[in-house]
Amino acid sequence: MLRVISEHFLYREGIMKIKNIYNRELEFLKDAIKNGKNPYHTFAFTTIKNRYPESRTVVLRGFKLNPLTIFFNADCRSSKILELKANKYCSALFYNQERRVQLRFKCEALLHYQNNISAKVWSNTALQSRKCYMGPYNPSEALDEWHPNIPLEYLKTDPEREHSEQGYANFVHIELKIIELDVLELHHDGHIRFITKNGKDLHYIAP
Ligand SMILES: Cc1cc2nc3c(=O)[nH]c(=O)nc-3n(C[C@H](O)[C@H](O)[C@H](O)COP(=O)(O)O)c2cc1C
Repeated sequence: MLRVISEHFLYREGIMKIKNIYNRELEFLKDAIKNGKNPYHTFAFTTIKNRYPESRTVVLRGFKLNPLTIFFNADCRSSKILELKANKYCSALFYNQERRVQLRFKCEALLHYQNNISAKVWSNTALQSRKCYMGPYNPSEALDEWHPNIPLEYLKTDPEREHSEQGYANFVHIELKIIELDVLELHHDGHIRFITKNGKDLHYIAP
């Protein structure tokens, strides 16, 4: 009887522990949207290009709970967007080196292009960021010589607001619906790893 009680107690303790880790990591993600010093401000985003995975760094621009969703922005002409149009399943990977925590999200992407959602995000996008969407070339296009793919007059300045509106034609806001989250926290005396699909049921898995 005593053994059954103590096993149940340990199980409850374990679940509480990973719930606390889960909630703490959500707070770090929320902070990372505006805080460039938070390592979760950028993440590795992976799509499938034909049959091969392709990863790149992107900036976290938004985060929502219930259901868990994360957001970033891109040029609609870029390879990653063409890849998402062919296969909406993708992965987002975050790592905080100081706290030694990794978050790996399995995601389904939804593209917001020229709709109410992309318009709202664009209206809050700084002029300095808007010029990245004003490039004369398609991202990844071969160049005969160096070009930064922003209008050359804005190399050292930001565009006028009115001219910056041109960038909206290339702007896409990407919503990543989370299918599963895999959390790994490294410890010298035993790593902790768990997965969740909905944020409510958390399950330990072997590190
Ligand atoms: C720190 C950092 C942040 C970046 N943020 C973004 C971003 O938010 N969105 C984006 O499309 N590309 C971003 N990039 C550029 C991408 O990593 C990538 O080089 C580019 O988008 C082309 O990717 P693709 O050809 O796979 O589409 C960032 C690069 C770095 C180094």
